[in-house]
Amino acid sequence: MYWDAQRYLDRHGFIIERGQALIDLLAPQAAEQVLDLGCGTGDIAAAMSERGAHVVGVDASPAMIARARERFPGQDYRVADAAELPFDAEFDAVYSHAVLHWVTRAEDAACGIARALKPGGRFVAELGGFRNCEVLETAFADALKRIAGRNYNSPWYFPRLPDYAALLESHGLVVRAAWYFDLPTPLKSEDGLRQWFIQFLPHHLGGLDDATREAVLAATEAVLKPTIWRNGAWWADYRRLRVVAEKMV
Ligand code: BEZ
Repeated sequence: MYWDAQRYLDRHGFIIERGQALIDLLAPQAAEQVLDLGCGTGDIAAAMSERGAHVVGVDASPAMIARARERFPGQDYRVADAAELPFDAEFDAVYSHAVLHWVTRAEDAACGIARALKPGGRFVAELGGFRNCEVLETAFADALKRIAGRNYNSPWYFPRLPDYAALLESHGLVVRAAWYFDLPTPLKSEDGLRQWFIQFLPHHLGGLDDATREAVLAATEAVLKPTIWRNGAWWADYRRLRVVAEKMV
């Protein structure tokens, strides 16, 4: 899918801030080889490099990689699909934040992550978990059908914790810790909700004429306003899955 890197930085920078918190869980050490899987605009990889790690950032979006290289020259950023990782026992750690729910080929991603790690290497990830953003998706799907006559197909993979742990274990990763938790997330200002749909579901809105597109977004807002608009923000029903795993020696 096409990624609007500037909109991401301007309107969804909170995702990068949350990614910073996950770095501590990974605890990158000086001179370690670290893979940032789905590095986006490059901020987290750059922050891990500041701690002395050698970081490779990969992302499937050429637009994101171009932006990362522009913002952090000298860092190693590459275009690569998470379901087709080209690495073999090269990394001490793999880090991934808010990315793996985009990878519906979850088996292939788990296999590639395990292969990329050295024996004993760590995998720390956070992704959307079971029923993540269900309220948002349901309202949008209803409006899309009612107004544009289109069926909505979710592009995301939001696994249950036991299923995801089993998937990792089946690829030789031992799960050391895992959490599934609610993380109500403010999408700030009146246009915050529509900015979220425009950023993350552009293909569902693409090809609609301007009036229909506007009507779908307005109808979604109208349905959600009574329940999730509070104190100047739309509260998105984020549910996170966080895992810490280790490749078997
Ligand atoms: C998430 O981080 O959970 C997420 C972000 C954008 C779209 C869907 C989910």
